[in-house]
Amino acid sequence: MLEVRHLAKRFGGLWALRDVSFSVSEGEILGVIGPNGAGKSTLVNLITGHARPTTGQVLIAGQDVTGRRPWVIAHDRVARTFQIVKPFRGLTVRENVAIGAMHGNERDGSVRDALATADELLELVGIAKHAHAAPTQLSVADARRLELAKALASRPRLLLIDEVMAGLRHHEIESAVELIHRLRDSGITIVAVEHVMKAIVSVSDRILVLHHGSILALGSPREVLSDPRVVEAYLGHRYVNRRSE
Ligand SMILES: Nc1ncnc2c1ncn2[C@@H]1O[C@H](COP(=O)(O)OP(=O)(O)OP(=O)(O)O)[C@@H](O)[C@H]1O
Ligand SMILES: [Mg+2]
Repeated sequence: MLEVRHLAKRFGGLWALRDVSFSVSEGEILGVIGPNGAGKSTLVNLITGHARPTTGQVLIAGQDVTGRRPWVIAHDRVARTFQIVKPFRGLTVRENVAIGAMHGNERDGSVRDALATADELLELVGIAKHAHAAPTQLSVADARRLELAKALASRPRLLLIDEVMAGLRHHEIESAVELIHRLRDSGITIVAVEHVMKAIVSVSDRILVLHHGSILALGSPREVLSDPRVVEAYLGHRYVNRRSE
C-alpha cells in the first residue's frame, strides 16, 4: 500500500529525515516512534504531500506520488491527522466531519448523507455527545478524536495518524488502541505516529524507530523492544528493567 524509497528532507542545514526506506502492506499497522525532533511528523508530511522530499520517492499502491500536492494525494484515498489539530472554528464538531465526508466522496453526496456519515463517525470515535459543540470547546483528547473522525470521513484506504493518543488517560489509550484495530479490520492500512511506547506496542504489527532522521530499527514490537540500539538510544535501561520485573 505504501512504499518510501531513500526519502530525505533537509531544512536549511538540518536533515530532518535521511535515507528512509520501508514499505507497509495492505491492512498492516505500522507504528512510528522516536524522540522529539526525530522526524516523525516530517515523514508523515512527505507521504501526504504537505512537504516535498529533498530526495527520494513515495509510492502509494504502487504509484509514484512524490511531490504531488496534498489534495491530489488525499484524492487517492490517503488521509491524515495533524499533530496540531486544525478544525474549522466557525463550524460545529459535526459539521467539521461532514465537510470531510463531502470532500472525500466520489459520489454526489448530499449534505444530508454527509451529516449522517458525520454522526456515525462521531459515534465511532466517541464524541457523539459533542456533535453540536464548537471544536474550541473540546478537551485536548476530544479534539484529537475529532481530527481522527475528520480523516475517516474521506473513507481512506491509507490513514496516517500523528499522535492521536497524546493526552489520553490510561484507560482511554486502551479504547483508542481497540478503535485503531477496528479501523484496520475494516480494511484501512495505518501508519501511527505515537510518543507513548505502551500504546505503540499494543497497536502495531511492526514498529519503525526513528532517531535523528534515520531508521534506528524496524521490526515486530518484540524485536524492536529487545534491540540494544533502541534500548540505548531511546528507551533507556530503566524501561527495559521495568518490563522484565
Ligand atoms: N518546517 C520546518 N522548518 C525547519 N525545520 C523543521 C521544520 N519542520 C520540522 N523541522 C525540524 O526537523 C526536525 C524533525 O521534526 P519533526 O517535527 O519531524 O519531528 P517529530 O519526530 O515529529 O517530533 P515531535 O515528537 O516533537 O513531534 C526537528 O529538528 C524540527 O525542528
Ligand atoms: Mg511530530
